[in-house]
Amino acid sequence: MRAVVLTTFGGPEQLSVRDVPEPVTPAPDAVLIRTAAAAVNPVDLQTRAGLHAGHSTVRPPMVLGWDVAGTVTAVGSDVTDLRVGDQVVAMSAQMATGRGTYAETVALPAGIVAPAPASLTPAHAAALPLAGLTARQALDALALPEGASVLITGAVGSVGGLAVQLARLRGLSVVAQVRSRRDEDEALALGADRVVDPEDLPEAEVDGLLETAGDPRAIRAVRDGGRAVTIVPSRVPAGERGIQVAVSHVEQDGPGLHALARLVDAGQVRLRIAQEFPFETAAEAHRALAAGGVRGKLLLLP
Ligand SMILES: NC(=O)c1ccc[n+]([C@@H]2O[C@H](COP(=O)([O-])OP(=O)(O)OC[C@H]3O[C@@H](n4cnc5c(N)ncnc54)[C@H](OP(=O)(O)O)[C@@H]3O)[C@@H](O)[C@H]2O)c1
Repeated sequence: MRAVVLTTFGGPEQLSVRDVPEPVTPAPDAVLIRTAAAAVNPVDLQTRAGLHAGHSTVRPPMVLGWDVAGTVTAVGSDVTDLRVGDQVVAMSAQMATGRGTYAETVALPAGIVAPAPASLTPAHAAALPLAGLTARQALDALALPEGASVLITGAVGSVGGLAVQLARLRGLSVVAQVRSRRDEDEALALGADRVVDPEDLPEAEVDGLLETAGDPRAIRAVRDGGRAVTIVPSRVPAGERGIQVAVSHVEQDGPGLHALARLVDAGQVRLRIAQEFPFETAAEAHRALAAGGVRGKLLLLP
């Protein structure tokens, strides 16, 4: 089968389409998925550049990618809740397991796979898993009560945009931080109550911070004794004024993904797709994400 292979750590030019062995028979607890699309995430760029090499045993040559949407083509003997032909989504922790999704067929444990939202095209569903699970799990870690206020930084990014929508569904009042005034309408459309820019944050006001932009200064918006969760481990805000600070690392979670897919089908969560790239132009997709200003997900299609 064809896959986008990272030959050695480095720039986007190290990505190329190669023939690799196709998984044929799934393990008893696993399924095979014929990929409709993978999505590109910042972690793929970081892994490609070797930034995670110190805490991962997975090494090139390897297939990158955490997000996949596609069709089940085979199920292991112990799998009871998925069938051949099902449209599914999954988030695969590629950095830890080496199971990359930039491939025509992906073998994954059934427990991390969920039915795809029926209201989306098979490919577009690939925009949901990593960003959705990250937003959901970070909000869980923040554990703010209904009616509380939260500042979400990077509010029109992949994780931020889903976090804004999920926070509203949890009854939180959302202050959205965006870098540029041109993103204000988008943040409001996602459900933000108020939009601020990084230089104009409220002071010691909100109950919680969900930090996705890598801007630790944002902690100044949190009230004394409030809570902060960051998803950017390299830019953790220093604790101050009794504020609890935690880092959230996304975890594989089939049931959590299923819950997110149901919200999409209920029209309560909207996914944004920026552009589709054939596997052959994966390097271009990596360059586009690195350049910034992308609003919505970049998808890779076999
Ligand atoms: N801990 C985890 O498990 C986990 C999971 C997923 C992602 N992450 C990390 O979380 C971060 C966001 O991921 P993502 O997929 O949402 O990325 P993304 O789609 O690129 O979104 C990032 C957003 O933040 C904005 N931004 C960047 N710097 C900013 C600043 N100084 N002030 C305000 N906004 C700023 C970007 O704007 P521009 O486009 O204009 O630059 C963009 O809108 C990445 O660092 C990623 O590695 C961590």
